[in-house]
Amino acid sequence: MKNRKLVKGIAMAAIAAMSMGMMAGCGGGENTQQDAAETYKVGLVQLVQHGSLDQANEGMVAGLAAEGFVVGENLEIDQQNAQGDQSNLQSISQQFLSNDVDVIMAIATPAAQVMAANTEEIPIVGTAITSYTEANLVESNEAPGTNVTGTHDMTPIEEQIDLLLQVVPDAKVIGTIYTSSEANSIVQVAILEEVCAAKGLTVEKRTISTVNDIQQAAQSLVGEADAIWLPTDNNVASAMPQVVGVTDEAGLITVCGATSMVEAGGTLTYGINYYYIGYDAGVMAAQILKGEAEPATMAVQGPKVENMDLIVNMDAVEYMGIELPADLMERATQVSVSAE
Ligand code: TRP
Repeated sequence: MKNRKLVKGIAMAAIAAMSMGMMAGCGGGENTQQDAAETYKVGLVQLVQHGSLDQANEGMVAGLAAEGFVVGENLEIDQQNAQGDQSNLQSISQQFLSNDVDVIMAIATPAAQVMAANTEEIPIVGTAITSYTEANLVESNEAPGTNVTGTHDMTPIEEQIDLLLQVVPDAKVIGTIYTSSEANSIVQVAILEEVCAAKGLTVEKRTISTVNDIQQAAQSLVGEADAIWLPTDNNVASAMPQVVGVTDEAGLITVCGATSMVEAGGTLTYGINYYYIGYDAGVMAAQILKGEAEPATMAVQGPKVENMDLIVNMDAVEYMGIELPADLMERATQVSVSAE
């Protein structure tokens, strides 16, 4: 939290210092006069409202501002939330096209996929997207070759499994639940299987189609798995209370893909701080608006190690009567989230 404030402080100072200077600097020195009056339009679409994605959104706006694109001064942001609905995503993309926005910003995989399906012209900058290649948004992270770039949020799965083993050292079978249609989850579970195979662990997978399937999926892991690992799956994240209602009761810890899932009831994780990957995507969008870069040749960036958080849900730990290693407790941010 302190860090976040600090970044904002820096951003504010940068805006103050730049709001004059930057305008004169852009446009390659040609029609500076005209640029000074120009207002840029960004269409920002967020798949659904939940902790990680809200943080990413806040970060994107701050990243743009730090580079001199300030809402109310020289920037209009059309902020849209699709409420997790595909047809909303379609109409939002049509709205962005008819408003002729300069850049589209998209938060989470399904949002970026719909935007990309509707335009090959307007630059799209994504964030909170697990894998741009698996989602068919780019040809490669290094050289996208399309109108899409941004920041990814591939979860540190190996570190998360190591964390799980610190808490449940005898675990042999890791249970997981994910949505069969989410490209972001499929790629994470494939990595999970590799990581687990290398450590001599077995994976028990349960797929769901909608949030309605989740309780039964969790129930079917009881007695089968020794602990649970959950990907950053948009359905699973929105149904955490249903998951932990079953797993906490059964004494199964849930190591989650993202800290927001722990804040929603999961047991613990080592995960990405979404504010920062949003921020970096905002900076990338600013470079595109300035005409300094274009998505096809602008590499997709990942999260930075210093922006990872270790987080433990003390209510879940106490409820299940788990002993956590002292050094882990010392490093962790402790939160209280009751399953009820
Ligand atoms: N990575 C997900 C995607 O590509 C989005 C996401 C980010 C997410 N953080 C999350 C999903 C936390 C669930 C929980 O769509």
